[in-house]
Amino acid sequence: MMQILCVVGARPNLMKIAPICQALEGHDRMGFRLLHTGQHYDRQMSHLFFEELGIPRPAVNLEVGGGTHAQQTAEVMKRFEPEVERYGPDLVLVVGDVNSTLACALVAVKLHVPVAHVEAGLRSGDRTMPEEINRILTDAISDLLFVTEQSGLDNLAREGIASERAHFVGNVMIDTLMRHREKAAGSDVLHRLGVSPREYVLLTLHRPSNVDDKETLNGILHALHEIQREVPLVLPIHPRTKKNLEAFGLSGWLEAWENLILTEPLGYLDFLCLMDRARVVLTDSGGIQEETTVCGVPCLTLRENTERPVTTKDGTNCLVGSDPSRILVAFRNLHGSDMPCPAHLPPLWDGRAAERIVRVLGKWCDQRPDLDVPQADIAGARLASLSRS
Ligand code: UD1
Repeated sequence: MMQILCVVGARPNLMKIAPICQALEGHDRMGFRLLHTGQHYDRQMSHLFFEELGIPRPAVNLEVGGGTHAQQTAEVMKRFEPEVERYGPDLVLVVGDVNSTLACALVAVKLHVPVAHVEAGLRSGDRTMPEEINRILTDAISDLLFVTEQSGLDNLAREGIASERAHFVGNVMIDTLMRHREKAAGSDVLHRLGVSPREYVLLTLHRPSNVDDKETLNGILHALHEIQREVPLVLPIHPRTKKNLEAFGLSGWLEAWENLILTEPLGYLDFLCLMDRARVVLTDSGGIQEETTVCGVPCLTLRENTERPVTTKDGTNCLVGSDPSRILVAFRNLHGSDMPCPAHLPPLWDGRAAERIVRVLGKWCDQRPDLDVPQADIAGARLASLSRS
């Protein structure tokens, strides 16, 4: 039996791991264990998603919490290493591009444990984004790369990664969306927030480049202030943004806006329901660019670049940056018109990506008669590193 150690750390990892766990559940040749690094720890940022998406309870929680990039990455690595040694997996599977993704991949590969990376190959071309560094480095050391869109294959090829390692399988986050869309439609969140279908704008904002600098954040807020005078604006507020608004002395101003509906971070089903019925979504998230494409809801992305270009080509996504006048012009153009739904979804975004991943893992497992080697390898790697120190 091949043993896989699956890793999650932050909120956006959870909708990606859910269908993979489901596809691995009860598999006759592959077993898995789930490990949470604890990068995200609030109920609204983590535990609620386990309940809603039916993700099995993690066998281990490393409880690393927040910190600077170096602190957080190092803390995950320190706490993950003994878990890999203890469990002795044949494969470590990581998803997405958060600090936990890179930290765990790095630990595994140094213990000679192969790594599978789900959502590989995405590139924004912007190396000031922490996620871009996490993506490049995780892909460079992964053995199996599962890709969501053609640009991912092109990027990996350009970086010299052997094509046999890359597998175009579709998008596991879209598997989760398709599986839960009907249930989400039953949520009473619109009623709770007092908004009507297609008569509100949904906003998410948490990217450090937008919320960590007072001047940039202030500029974006001026555009949003105008927007909420024209149509109700719903903002489930991310902890990073909340902390910065308070630190910059901007919270009081926001709370006085007449048409802004501020909420705590929402669960998956409530958020999906709100997104699916929004008039327009404004966001700086990566995943929401993909989800709005599938929902057919116009998305204005408050960034200058995207690592998910298929959403601007085949989807509803439009990049508008963080300049307030550009945001306003784009919003007013859109708000006044009826944007048609995209004619077709990006290739393989059909709800079956996790099945394809498990099929590839099964073949990979068949080709490795040495599957009990990693345990010995781990001990060897550990001894080698101890003898060097
Ligand atoms: C992380 C990811 C980002 C992802 C985002 C989704 C990295 C580099 N960034 O950013 O790619 O889009 O998650 O949310 O990995 N906090 C809480 N409660 C929580 C979680 C965080 O209060 O449950 C606080 C932290 O203490 C910290 C801040 O929010 O002060 C930011 O958390 P952190 O994990 O460092 O990064 P995110 O901005 O959430």
